[in-house]
Amino acid sequence: MALKIARSIPEVPSNWDHPVGFVPTMGAFHEGHLSLMRKAKEKCGFCAISIFVNPTQFGPNEDFLKYPRQEELDLEMARSVGVDFAFIPSVEEMYGSAATRICVDGVSVRWEGASRPGHFDGVATVVAKLFHIVHPSHAFFGLKDFQQCAVIRQMVQDLNFPVELSFEDTVREPDGLALSSRNRYLTGEERKLAPHFYRSLREAAVELKSVGANTLVVKDTIAKYARSLAQSGFEIDYFAAVDANSLEPLTQITGAGRMIGAVKLGSTRLIDNCAI
Ligand code: PAF
Repeated sequence: MALKIARSIPEVPSNWDHPVGFVPTMGAFHEGHLSLMRKAKEKCGFCAISIFVNPTQFGPNEDFLKYPRQEELDLEMARSVGVDFAFIPSVEEMYGSAATRICVDGVSVRWEGASRPGHFDGVATVVAKLFHIVHPSHAFFGLKDFQQCAVIRQMVQDLNFPVELSFEDTVREPDGLALSSRNRYLTGEERKLAPHFYRSLREAAVELKSVGANTLVVKDTIAKYARSLAQSGFEIDYFAAVDANSLEPLTQITGAGRMIGAVKLGSTRLIDNCAI
């Protein structure tokens, strides 16, 4: 079936008579996006995507204007994995004179929420709008944005969206760097250094797993890896062990934990995470 493109809300069917697996995106596709689209197609038999660089989730000093935009190439890549439907609205179409915002409390407050005020309000608002417009039965998100997954899970539960969520493993380069549309900003030297970030998250996670309930050692282990990253040239925003559900910091490793981090290499901000 040929890929159908809708640029305005009335062009999107409101009564699909089959399951719809939805992958919301901001474009600039890489293998991570394509693997979500394949999963959606596999599970639902029909894959819908959106391409929308959402201004409300960018802070005033962030990269909204320079965020990569490559619609033709994105559509070609989407066709190559069998995407059936693409919603590509303008900012005016999505927001017009909108005055309503969704704020998910709790899981959105720390980490990305603290470093990027308003970011998760923008994400929650646009995802809610996209769910209302596209009417998917299923939606697929990448676990690279671990906190975003928690925020969307909370919102879907709180607002009773009839959408089944799937959170999929991060796709990585052979050296471990998580695929991200922003990796293209890295200089050659920064790109060589970048995999050290995920390696540190992993090594910290393995070490923490064996530390267990010893609060002091947990704190020291996290600090040791953060210090080593800083010494190698990373600017640390946060580097933390958190409860995988509440995103609250862990002082003991007992239940399901996650190492999460955000760092800057030059002007490029990287985020990543792994299970403890
Ligand atoms: O993860 C992203 O690309 C965006 O945050 C999303 C979910 C498409 C909302 O704009």
